[in-house]
Amino acid sequence: MNTFSHGILEWYNNNKRDLPWRTDNSPYRVLISEIMLQQTQVPRVIEKFHEFLMLFPTLRNLANASKADVIKAWSGLGYNRRALLLHKFAQVVVEKHDAIIPSTPEELIELPGIGPYAAGSIASFAFNLPAPAIDVNVRRIFHRYFDGKDQGKLGSKEEERVLFSVVKDSIPDNKSCDFHNALMDFGSLVCKRNTPLCTGCPLFSSCKFGPLYDQDKATLHKVIKAKEKGVTELGRHVPNRIFRGRIVEWVRKNENVEISVTDLGSQIKKDFNKEEEWLLMLITKLQQDHLLTFAEKNGSIKLEIAK
Ligand code: ADE
Repeated sequence: MNTFSHGILEWYNNNKRDLPWRTDNSPYRVLISEIMLQQTQVPRVIEKFHEFLMLFPTLRNLANASKADVIKAWSGLGYNRRALLLHKFAQVVVEKHDAIIPSTPEELIELPGIGPYAAGSIASFAFNLPAPAIDVNVRRIFHRYFDGKDQGKLGSKEEERVLFSVVKDSIPDNKSCDFHNALMDFGSLVCKRNTPLCTGCPLFSSCKFGPLYDQDKATLHKVIKAKEKGVTELGRHVPNRIFRGRIVEWVRKNENVEISVTDLGSQIKKDFNKEEEWLLMLITKLQQDHLLTFAEKNGSIKLEIAK
């Protein structure tokens, strides 16, 4: 085992977080937690994880649920499209795999909503297979430690290929699940994005980044988060994703209520002012994504959660 992997696992042994999806790594629980964790912070996922499993205790329950019920259960997690893809995933697994979630990344990636990260993470966390699961944290830790670079964003095809093989070679025999959990915790508690705790880091002496960071924090390249598409609300940039969530939330509470586009605008945006075209674009996109349907009538619209 290389110095890096050994150090990470040793750190994990003494510092692991007690997270609900780690008490039992059945593939269904891992699936739900990983899809929730893809864009939502750990504390919020902790709240929603149990609630979701109570509503849909098995993959078959989820597959048999209505779209509307799945979207409702997803409330508070954002990115409703992920809920629909998860629902579709469950239906395809029931249909094609007799409700048994496949174990290999190659099979997993063929399924709805599963990209390279999710395929690797399910294979690693649920089946302990040596499959790299590279998210922003893993990418950042490896680039810092092995290259001395502060890069959290996706690199070129070639850079990603090299990163994949470095991560794969670092997975200790028969310890993929622990190793990946260790990386998740290390990225969130020590090798943090904006304020890495290099002083006191157990990997400091072999890390290419630590000494650089210590020497001159100011000159280091900071990862600048690309601004998501959105509009200004009360002087602040708010991503369209947030407004999409507010629209779905409003429709959930007011299904089939007729409303003018302008009035709906005031319901979902605090300083809505002549932005009807933008709002109609969001609604049309929500309909295209099968989250809701809408009908226009006498200058008003009527919205419904997709069935
Ligand atoms: N983020 C993604 N997967 C995670 C996991 N299993 N534990 C903690 N954070 C995560």
